[in-house]
Amino acid sequence: MKAILLKRTGGPGVLKLRQVPDPAPGPGEVLVEIYYSGVNYAEILSRRGLYGWAVKRPYILGMEASGVISRVGEGVAPERVGQQVMVGAQYGCYAEKIVIAADQAVPAIAGFTLAESAAFLVNFMTAWVSLFPMGRLAEGEKVLITAAAGGVGTAAVQLASRAGATVFAMAGNPEKIALVKQLGAKEGINYRVDDWAKQLEEEAGRVDLVLEMVGGQVFRECLKLLNPFGRMVVAGFASLDLQKWNPFSWIRTLRDIPRVGLQRMARQSIALMATHLGYLLNDPQRTEKIFTELSVFVQEHHLKPVISKVFPIQEAGAAHAYIESRQSFGKVLLKHHIAASDDHTSSLWKTTL
Ligand SMILES: NC(=O)c1ccc[n+]([C@@H]2O[C@H](COP(=O)([O-])OP(=O)(O)OC[C@H]3O[C@@H](n4cnc5c(N)ncnc54)[C@H](OP(=O)(O)O)[C@@H]3O)[C@@H](O)[C@H]2O)c1
Repeated sequence: MKAILLKRTGGPGVLKLRQVPDPAPGPGEVLVEIYYSGVNYAEILSRRGLYGWAVKRPYILGMEASGVISRVGEGVAPERVGQQVMVGAQYGCYAEKIVIAADQAVPAIAGFTLAESAAFLVNFMTAWVSLFPMGRLAEGEKVLITAAAGGVGTAAVQLASRAGATVFAMAGNPEKIALVKQLGAKEGINYRVDDWAKQLEEEAGRVDLVLEMVGGQVFRECLKLLNPFGRMVVAGFASLDLQKWNPFSWIRTLRDIPRVGLQRMARQSIALMATHLGYLLNDPQRTEKIFTELSVFVQEHHLKPVISKVFPIQEAGAAHAYIESRQSFGKVLLKHHIAASDDHTSSLWKTTL
């Protein structure tokens, strides 16, 4: 089969489609023919050699995909063959096939296309965990979401607004602000204009929850806005630009990585939390419970992931470059040979972006 095998770290050009052996399912596993792979910011960090949860190279990149189960290993119900599934994994999804534990290939949500199925798991699970089990967002509360036009952000804006919260969303250009408002945000704030911090305070005032994914000055300004008993959940820090051989970048990274002392938290009576979806995979029962609650909510509210672009798998480097340019919004997907040429077009977000 063909796959993007990460042999060395570097720019988007290191992502090359290579021939690798076909995998076969062992006991408790399934073989999935992949139609679409989701691109996550974490894979950009992995490609640069900066992702803490990455395995040792060489390995096949990719943490999520959609497809159809074509074979099952011993102990897995044979009726699962032919089932449309969403796959969540630590690696291995930028490939034509993957072998995965049967419980990591979950049935696709009814009514989702295969493209939508590849865009769902990581973004919606991260947003859900951050907003509800951790952030305890309640109806009528005010929530501030950073990187709101991205994959996790577009999921979070939809989930929080449908749960009855008032959403303030931050993003990096006017078109993205228009998008987050379309998705349910009350106000959007562009944090790439000079006086953004002042505008943010004027628009949002005090908030009950922040879902933070940028770091640096954005983290520091958002923290100031928390009400007493407010919570901040840090799910990422996309602005950090650590470069292995650049000592100035080490200093900037130390300065900008989100942190806060207990005394400061006590003065504001606030909580700071952080989450990483990967580690939840070690707790299948909790993961399943979260996934079930999330899927029920998504179906009740007719939510769908926002997909901005689909690249053929051989253009994985271009897909990474597109996200790194900060022009992307929502989810970016890679399409495999088995997917028909136009079976994703109905899923693309119709926007003037
Ligand atoms: N904790 C978890 O389990 C988990 C799971 C998934 C993702 N994440 C993290 O959550 C964050 C968002 O992930 P995603 O997949 O939704 O990302 P994404 O949409 O693919 O892209 C990241 C977004 O971050 C924003 N950003 C702000 N400052 C940036 C900078 N200096 N350089 C590049 N981008 C910058 C950009 O939007 P603007 O231009 O609008 O600012 C960009 O669209 C990432 O940090 C990711 O690692 C964490």
